[in-house]
Amino acid sequence: MLTGGGDCPGLNAVLRAIVRKGEQDYGDDLVGFRDGWKGVLEGTTMPLDVATMRGTLPRGGTVLGSSRTNPFKVDGGLEAAEATLRTLGIDALVAIGGEDTLGVAKRLHDHGVPVVGVPKTIDNDLSATELTFGFDTAVQIATDAIDRLHTTAESHDRVMVVEVMGRHAGHIATWAGIAGGATMILIPEEPFDIAKVCDVIRARHEKGRYASIVVVAEGAQPAEGSLVLKDAEVDAFGHVKLGGIANILAGEIEQRTGFDTRVTILGHVQRGGTPTSFDRVLSTRFGIAAIEAVHDGAFGSMVALQAGEIVRVPLADAVGKLKTVDLNLYHRVAGVFFG
Ligand code: F6P
Repeated sequence: MLTGGGDCPGLNAVLRAIVRKGEQDYGDDLVGFRDGWKGVLEGTTMPLDVATMRGTLPRGGTVLGSSRTNPFKVDGGLEAAEATLRTLGIDALVAIGGEDTLGVAKRLHDHGVPVVGVPKTIDNDLSATELTFGFDTAVQIATDAIDRLHTTAESHDRVMVVEVMGRHAGHIATWAGIAGGATMILIPEEPFDIAKVCDVIRARHEKGRYASIVVVAEGAQPAEGSLVLKDAEVDAFGHVKLGGIANILAGEIEQRTGFDTRVTILGHVQRGGTPTSFDRVLSTRFGIAAIEAVHDGAFGSMVALQAGEIVRVPLADAVGKLKTVDLNLYHRVAGVFFG
């Protein structure tokens, strides 16, 4: 097993389920690679058994550690990974991760490595599964924060800009924005016009003493020509490091409307701490399904949630294309409450 990419509440619950079912029902010998694909490249492992996993169900993070190492970006990475798996006598690998980790898993499977994937990410942007574990927890954390911001915003008649994670998808922003009663939700899928955002806020405040909560996804983009953002750094998978749009947005809102505006960037708080009960159950179901897939020889597949059931889908379907926000949900549900 390995856990790759950004950590996520529910990772330990997946490991625990695989270990329990694997040991108890199949008599498996289970081992974890440290720090995602880095552990596979370097052959660093830790034994995983029922005793090791005891007490980890409610714990955030991952007992294995995680990294954003991409073996295909390392010279001789593929050969090193294959050598580790051969030397350690690994019969099957369960890769628990998001788009990047599972993208590597797919490529390794194309080279003959027996891999099963488990969809993890707070961003919920993996295709072929309705939900990834960790998303529910992140949404709950963001919603709790928005609830708290309402009371302080109202006391001071302020605009609060809350930035949430999600990379190039606005799932966390949309869900937390709906759940938290946001005045406005800005997501990457719908470039925003700062002038219109300010119009909405102005109209709202002119009606009386109405504070505003603007939820902005870290990957939200201004409509072309409306606002200029600076270039961001790129990681080993070629992803830009996002974060900070709320500061720019708040500055513009305050300057254009004259309303007192404050910023909250939730950042890694959304990824830390204990998973919700929903995520614990989803992670457990995914873990059980993953070890079953291994024993059925269903390599090259990922376990997924579809219509309430756990199913197997080709890894290629999961990583081919980003799952973005359903614009019906954004416009026809969230949009009703904008303003
Ligand atoms: O993919 C999960 C995620 O938390 C994104 O929402 C965010 O952009 C990114 O990871 C942050 O990554 P890091 O922890 O490497 O800063």
